[in-house]
Amino acid sequence: MDKITVSTPNKSYPIYIERDFDSLYEAVKVTAPSKICIVSDTNVAPLYLEEIKKILSPIAPVCTHVFPAGESNKHIDTIKGFYECFIENKLDRKSALVALGGGVVGDMTGFAAATYMRGIKFIQIPTTLLAQVDSSVGGKTGVDFNGNKNMVGAFYQPELVYINSATLNTLEYRQVAAGLAEAIKYGFIIDKPFLDFFITNREKIMSLDSFSIDYVIAQSCRCKAFVVDQDEKEQGLRAILNFGHTFGHAVETLYDFTLLHGECVAIGMVAALYYAYKLKAISKEALEKYERVLLDMKLPVRCDLSPESIYEQMFLDKKTTSGKLKIITIKAAGSYFIDTTAKEEDVLDAIRYITS
Ligand code: GLY
Repeated sequence: MDKITVSTPNKSYPIYIERDFDSLYEAVKVTAPSKICIVSDTNVAPLYLEEIKKILSPIAPVCTHVFPAGESNKHIDTIKGFYECFIENKLDRKSALVALGGGVVGDMTGFAAATYMRGIKFIQIPTTLLAQVDSSVGGKTGVDFNGNKNMVGAFYQPELVYINSATLNTLEYRQVAAGLAEAIKYGFIIDKPFLDFFITNREKIMSLDSFSIDYVIAQSCRCKAFVVDQDEKEQGLRAILNFGHTFGHAVETLYDFTLLHGECVAIGMVAALYYAYKLKAISKEALEKYERVLLDMKLPVRCDLSPESIYEQMFLDKKTTSGKLKIITIKAAGSYFIDTTAKEEDVLDAIRYITS
């Protein structure tokens, strides 16, 4: 069992990393909810909803809301269904929502918690690796709007995050790899020993060896907490978590979300690494070595889009301010660098590398 604390200026909360749900009752009980609504999707509900409901029922009356799985349902109309359920079940200001599922469930439930009655408690129980190492921690909540990813949302921190890493055993490997991409990201930007851990323990991590995967989850949460504690609302430092994302989001959008987010981040990180190579921050050997880390995890590192289309799309990203690209790259492995004066030619070269 591991316990990590996130400490933002307004709120501190624990992240529990377990291999079962045995400590969930105690963890939730201290939040003293008047009622609980468990929100889940049609993929995850059949696996864990009844078990979680049984664990939480002695704490407070429990209702449930299950919506159709998939990013295509991550919109405001689905949230309307959430609110209807909350009103029907008379959830009040002391009630708590429990997000049981992957990133879509967590982001939407968090947004519903931030807005229902101007804000009620919520608890994250992430069941995908991507949600466990990234999206359930740090309080980013929201929905997509007219094809724009996470365009409407709020920073809203949970009461706690409860990770049962045994839930990963039901995931297909492709989903695991997508989560690993976000975890490796922390190695590139702030934690060289963590990056080395992926190289040394690749097979164990890929086969979900319990010690190795729990370490990956815990160290990712520590890295994310380290960043979020200093910059909850992305006024500065938190932007480093977008390493690989500026390129990756463009790829994700141009493929019409048919690739997984983590897969696009892997492709985007290779572009960001090439960009570092262009700036002479890392050697050609290092570039190839780090690209291999991703490839060996069975992540994509190239795409067949046109370089120009990716470049244009990057300017449409909601994180682009005043038409200026901000490239998150590295000055060495484990050491981030934010380039606010990116030259078009260098960015295009990086894009050409991932489309070659
Ligand atoms: N996933 C990036 C962030 O939470 O800031």
